[in-house]
Amino acid sequence: MSNTDKKKLGHNRVPTDLESYWMPSSANRKFKQDPRFIVSARGMYYTDSNDKEVMDGSAGLWCVNAGHYREEINQAIAEQLEQLDFAHSFNAGHPLAFDYASRLVKHFPDPLNHVFFTNSGSESVDTALKIALSYHKLRGEGSRQRLIGREKGYHGMGFGGISVGGLMKNRSSFGMLLPGTDHLRHTLDIERNAFSAGLPAHGIELADDLTRLVELHGADNIAAVIVEPIAGAAGVILPPQGYLQRLRELCTQHGILLIFDEVITAFGRLGASCAASRFGVVPDIMATAKGITNATVPMGAVFVSDAIFDTFMGVEDQGIELSHGYTYSGHPLACAAGMATLDIYEREGLLDRAASLEQHWNENAMRLQGQPNVIDVRCHALIGAIELAPRPGAPMARGAEVAKRCYELGLWSRNIGDMIVMSPPLIISEAEITRMFDIICKAVAATP
Ligand SMILES: Cc1ncc(COP(=O)(O)O)c(C=O)c1O
Repeated sequence: MSNTDKKKLGHNRVPTDLESYWMPSSANRKFKQDPRFIVSARGMYYTDSNDKEVMDGSAGLWCVNAGHYREEINQAIAEQLEQLDFAHSFNAGHPLAFDYASRLVKHFPDPLNHVFFTNSGSESVDTALKIALSYHKLRGEGSRQRLIGREKGYHGMGFGGISVGGLMKNRSSFGMLLPGTDHLRHTLDIERNAFSAGLPAHGIELADDLTRLVELHGADNIAAVIVEPIAGAAGVILPPQGYLQRLRELCTQHGILLIFDEVITAFGRLGASCAASRFGVVPDIMATAKGITNATVPMGAVFVSDAIFDTFMGVEDQGIELSHGYTYSGHPLACAAGMATLDIYEREGLLDRAASLEQHWNENAMRLQGQPNVIDVRCHALIGAIELAPRPGAPMARGAEVAKRCYELGLWSRNIGDMIVMSPPLIISEAEITRMFDIICKAVAATP
């Protein structure tokens, strides 16, 4: 970008008022003492207000899968604005939403052939839970009301999502949450599975925890189980080999719907369109968002099976089948951005690309094994986490320091407490992967 272009874009501009904006999921006061502003992004790189270029190690927040500033997405959004800025979708339609839905479902496994649009991952999760409850009621099994999540699960910040979610900090300030939820045990087992590149060998039996909950609550009171195939926000917790298959079998056996929260795993993160395809385990409902529009326009999509969709469409009453939806469901700009994103994913083979980089990724991630204070490395396709031992008396300090050093060295990485999580744009080159881990190794080595 030329210096004139940078000026035009307000490059180097820093805000004067930091108080009006209440930042989300942030330590506001700490940030504002030492603020850092990102002012532009291209491809794999951000530029900050000091003109420093840093590699994007987390694809935004697991969402900029095709890399930043994809001109054809920008152009598609601009053209759509010229054509139709907005039309709502309540008993109304614009062609693009239908075209986009029919194109999208072709990328997802059978029988997930129907899609409900939302605006975020949190809304996708709430939508999935509501579809599950409503489905059972329609079939005359209205006693199936319990929703089962998993410890350490993250399903966004709506009340549904935090109720089935299993991260204490996201739950403990918000009262009683949804009644009737319960949680499977999580699958993080550093003692048995530390430093296993790919899916860990131990822990398939943890899926049998569902049997405990069935024995406790009765299968006829359980509507659905929701899990992230790979838990991201808790620090990239991988499913043990065979775990998801076993969970699928148990859900089928007990008539419980299986929901995959694929908000970060769909759209190429694991070297396939979604984790369901990668692992060969198909849920009844799948919640997605993020990479769907390459993060340009907020959007989410919930995929449902033929059996569920047909149940709703089979009711005699010709009125509204599901009393649920958002003003911006199927927003024309989001659909246009999604279409253009799919064009890129298809043309550049990005949905599969992570699989071809996997070996290089895992080998590089494993370079952290044996570095001081590294107690685990978890990695799979283009996702990973490095877990550091918490500093005695100062948990999370080490992770924050490593992330700060990485930034100074040219990598914007994300620390979640003492874990460094990694999920770069899927366009990353092998050389950039090597560089990314060079930086992390250096930062870890320099952090006592
Ligand atoms: C697995 C999962 N579900 C849901 C969400 C919530 O998505 P959003 O922030 O778009 O509401 C996230 C966000 O990171 C996520 O990782």
